[in-house]
Amino acid sequence: MAKVKTVFMCKECGGKTPKWSGQCPFCGEWNTMEETTEVQNSGKKVTSLGLTSVNAVQLSEININDTKRIDTGIKEFNRVLGGGLVEGSIVLLSGDPGIGKSTLLLQICNNIKENILYVTGEESAGQIKLRAERLKTDNPNLKVMCQTDMLAICDYIKTEKPKLVLIDSIQTMCHEGIASSPGSITQVRECTNLLLKVGKNYNIPIIIVGHINKGGDIAGPKVMEHIVDTVLYFDGEKSSAYRILRAHKNRFGSTNEIGVFEMGSCGLTEVENPSSLMLSGRLDGVSGSSVCCVLEGTRPVFVEVQGLVAESGFGNARRMAGGFDYNRLNLILAVLEKRTGIIFNTMDVYLNVVGGLKLEEPAADLAVTASLISAQRDIPISGDVCVFGEIGLSGEVRAVPQAAARVAEAKRLGFKHCIVPKGCFKQLMNFNVDGMKIDYIRTVSELAKIL
Ligand code: TYD
Ligand code: MG
Repeated sequence: MAKVKTVFMCKECGGKTPKWSGQCPFCGEWNTMEETTEVQNSGKKVTSLGLTSVNAVQLSEININDTKRIDTGIKEFNRVLGGGLVEGSIVLLSGDPGIGKSTLLLQICNNIKENILYVTGEESAGQIKLRAERLKTDNPNLKVMCQTDMLAICDYIKTEKPKLVLIDSIQTMCHEGIASSPGSITQVRECTNLLLKVGKNYNIPIIIVGHINKGGDIAGPKVMEHIVDTVLYFDGEKSSAYRILRAHKNRFGSTNEIGVFEMGSCGLTEVENPSSLMLSGRLDGVSGSSVCCVLEGTRPVFVEVQGLVAESGFGNARRMAGGFDYNRLNLILAVLEKRTGIIFNTMDVYLNVVGGLKLEEPAADLAVTASLISAQRDIPISGDVCVFGEIGLSGEVRAVPQAAARVAEAKRLGFKHCIVPKGCFKQLMNFNVDGMKIDYIRTVSELAKIL
């Protein structure tokens, strides 16, 4: 017999408790516990031996149909998905309001020439039409439905069986059988579950738009992220026209790839060469600026790292890091002070990665170090220098993978000088260095000498 139990679930972290409390005992957030129900199933079949009867299949006997991928016509989107939209997969697309989620969905519609259902709970059909005109989307196979009743939507999908379903957004959808209001944990979870069932049963890919909350997480329960196959984040500075799409979870591909777009008057355009975008607007002969090569998935991307070191007016020196981990910045400063004797403790240090990219790869360490040294000494680094390498606590510069691919791309973009870890020598041994100066360094002190 299935038993229905009332539990309280945290909107932020998905933690469950049997009793309500003002603060979530798991993540410490306030006012996030919401009442929800949970079905406990105790009706298992019991055999005469008292063991539950279950079946297992041999791995070799499992047939897999080739995963068919739908080409969305947008290369950057396909790349982030791992080569296209997998049939029957459920994709969650999330991002700040106004970042361009609906625009991206509508542009995908333009390229798929089969039946598409666009369900909107946020806008009227007229608004969608206006946007479509702006984007010059004219797909006769696209059907727009302004509906928030999830059961009705699922019934429609079952009968019409479109090739692709877009739900904009899950927070506006409502399951009639559940008392809580749209956007609540129970509603979001149940609506996602319904979509999952329909999508998997009829092998229809579904892209669901999900809003994110102030903290940057997907609003609603964390369980939603567990249910879907792929979670995509659409990021970008509101003030800049550039948008970066990245996968946070992907059952059908890597999560390293990024897609770069530019928002213009006619919607989003793909940026095929993000490096030239990230490096545009760079000033020559200014101290504190260095160029780093990081791998975003399979692509080497070049970014400018800017450092500013100024005399601190107060007792406590300030540190600020944009696009780079704050603690890692502190670590690099400590390594520099200890191993090279360059003093920062009476200085305010500001670090910024230009272009809105977040540098997570350790290869960015050396560029950050170079920027800080240059800023502290107020001596500029030449504009045709590219730096990459990881820094260790002993001040050693460690090797990073795919050095040859990075240097080759640097050469293609017109860089003349690369400063790389000594450990990358083997990787670069057979590289045609024609016209490119490569300095191999072992420690941060060697870097300080070269710069
Ligand atoms: P939208 O897709 O509605 O964002 P979301 O669904 O993520 O909330 O996009 C909203 C912003 O994009 C809006 O501020 C206007 C801008 N925009 C353009 O600059 N050019 C365009 O062609 C379109 C359609 C939108
Ligand atoms: Mg929208």
